[in-house]
Amino acid sequence: MEVTTIEQLQADDLSLVATWLSRNEINRWLTAEWRNRVASTTLLAIAMRNPKNRLFLIRCNGQACGLVALADIDVADATGMIWYVLGEPGFARNGIASEAVRQLVRKSFQELKLQSLYAWIMEDNVASAKLLHKVGFREVGRIRQAASSNRQQVDRIYFDLIAAECP
Ligand SMILES: CC(C)(COP(=O)(O)OP(=O)(O)OC[C@H]1O[C@@H](n2cnc3c(N)ncnc32)[C@H](O)[C@@H]1OP(=O)(O)O)[C@@H](O)C(=O)NCCC(=O)NCCS
Repeated sequence: MEVTTIEQLQADDLSLVATWLSRNEINRWLTAEWRNRVASTTLLAIAMRNPKNRLFLIRCNGQACGLVALADIDVADATGMIWYVLGEPGFARNGIASEAVRQLVRKSFQELKLQSLYAWIMEDNVASAKLLHKVGFREVGRIRQAASSNRQQVDRIYFDLIAAECP
């Protein structure tokens, strides 16, 4: 049986995570901050130091395989944005990213005392849409033509989950 865990990202993990985030098939789906560029360890270290972010390494049976994170954390309003990547393609479609997101959702509501989480995806990101529905997020609306996916303007679809409805 596979055991998925998340742990706070450490300086030692940065070069591995930078390799994942530098891959176009991964970063093309992310916010413009990471999209279509090489992610250096310096960029990651800066992101880690920003109190609006919390970054966690995903392990499957002990092996580092992905990243799940909060960005845009707003303590006053008790909200933040969740994002995630599976870095090791050999681990895909095993429910690992879904389980890691579930764990970060729980941590966000129970330990970080957030009340509302949101995520946004490009409308053509089928895997991410499935993941969010599966974990209990609900689609709340779209901003039309608000993201650049492979040089095409596509809609952003927003999802939310609130603490009171956390499965
Ligand atoms: C999205 C991503 C994190 C999913 O990782 P994963 O560990 O394979 O996801 P899971 O195994 O938990 O699967 C979640 C759902 O997505 C589906 N899925 C995963 N990869 C898929 C693909 N390539 N095409 C279609 N569906 C896919 C799974 O089948 C599952 O749905 P199901 O239970 O209804 O079958 C991974 O594909 C990724 O890193 N993508 C690039 C980065 C990205 O898009 N991040 C999100 C930005 S908002």
